[in-house]
Amino acid sequence: MAKAVRVHKVGGPEALIYESVDVPAPGPGEVRIRQHAVGLNFIDVYYRTGLYKAPGLPFIAGNEAAGEVVAVGAGVTNFHPGDRVAYYFTLGGYASERVIPADNLVKLPDHITYEQAAVLMLKGLTVWYLLHKTFKVEAGHRVLIHAAAGGIGLLACQWAKALGARVIGTVGSKAKADLALAHGCDHVILYNEEDFVARVKQISRNELCDVVYDGVGKSTFPGSLSCLRPRGLFVSFGNASGPVPPFALAELNNHGSLFATRPKLNDYVSTRKELLEGADTLFAAVINGKLHVPINHAYALKDAAKAHTELESRATTGAGILRP
Ligand SMILES: NC(=O)c1ccc[n+]([C@@H]2O[C@H](COP(=O)([O-])OP(=O)(O)OC[C@H]3O[C@@H](n4cnc5c(N)ncnc54)[C@H](OP(=O)(O)O)[C@@H]3O)[C@@H](O)[C@H]2O)c1
Repeated sequence: MAKAVRVHKVGGPEALIYESVDVPAPGPGEVRIRQHAVGLNFIDVYYRTGLYKAPGLPFIAGNEAAGEVVAVGAGVTNFHPGDRVAYYFTLGGYASERVIPADNLVKLPDHITYEQAAVLMLKGLTVWYLLHKTFKVEAGHRVLIHAAAGGIGLLACQWAKALGARVIGTVGSKAKADLALAHGCDHVILYNEEDFVARVKQISRNELCDVVYDGVGKSTFPGSLSCLRPRGLFVSFGNASGPVPPFALAELNNHGSLFATRPKLNDYVSTRKELLEGADTLFAAVINGKLHVPINHAYALKDAAKAHTELESRATTGAGILRP
């Protein structure tokens, strides 16, 4: 029987219950997959706590994974049993088997492992749209990336560097600083010990940054605004420390006619064409050696609560996966 990690009542890590589940046969347009690696994401924490609303209770946690097709429903012609696949941002990921719309899947190239794919489909696609679509990072741009040693962070630092940017990262410990430096950061700031705004001013000789990528939220606001040059872009894409509080629009004026956006993956990857464009670009970046996928933590699926505890307590670096 298939196993999954379900949330019956939102709450702490103990809300993640490992149990047997029935997996139906795939309906029209659907595919059943046996999952080999499941991505661990901070977004999974938001669904577990109720900050982000799941469609109902109970729900299976998790949003990205990779595996092999075991059955296809009526009308599915582009996937077949045995195909190696991965999917992006679809709740229900913490499971040994699941049914999913075929349109959410991409096929994996031979050189991409299940573990890499399970990390690339949500975290990688997010980094892709943040650096290429939300703000087009180009050579010479100065970029600030908060939580630079995290899952998103280590991918973003590498890619921004490969695009020719000058990359400043913030991190919570010396060990994380070393990791961020090894993954493309030119400068690292220990933001729990140092005033990160003052350090950005010092590093940039008061020229500040063209763009700030902020997935930390509450604790880095409004400091992030002070790190931007006039007409720079504040990209608030997450809430690891809590949501950014409401603020007056005039703050953008006060900090130099800034722009601000609160993007999400589904709005940048909303069509099959965008999904394939993003996935192809990511897979090529990994195969060509431009992007290393740092999978620094692996847990058994049944230990999802432990994985959440470590992620929330800032004990992880890079990406984590769960093994069904
Ligand atoms: N908008 C989108 O489309 C989208 C898509 C995917 C992910 N995201 C966001 O991207 C961010 C990163 O996600 P991820 O899965 O890669 O997680 P992660 O960066 O691996 O983990 C979160 C990191 O945030 C830092 N942090 C700062 N204050 C924290 C606090 N009070 N509690 C916990 N962590 C804190 C920690 O790094 P330090 O110890 O170095 O401070 C921690 O390791 C999250 O906010 C997530 O929601 C957004």
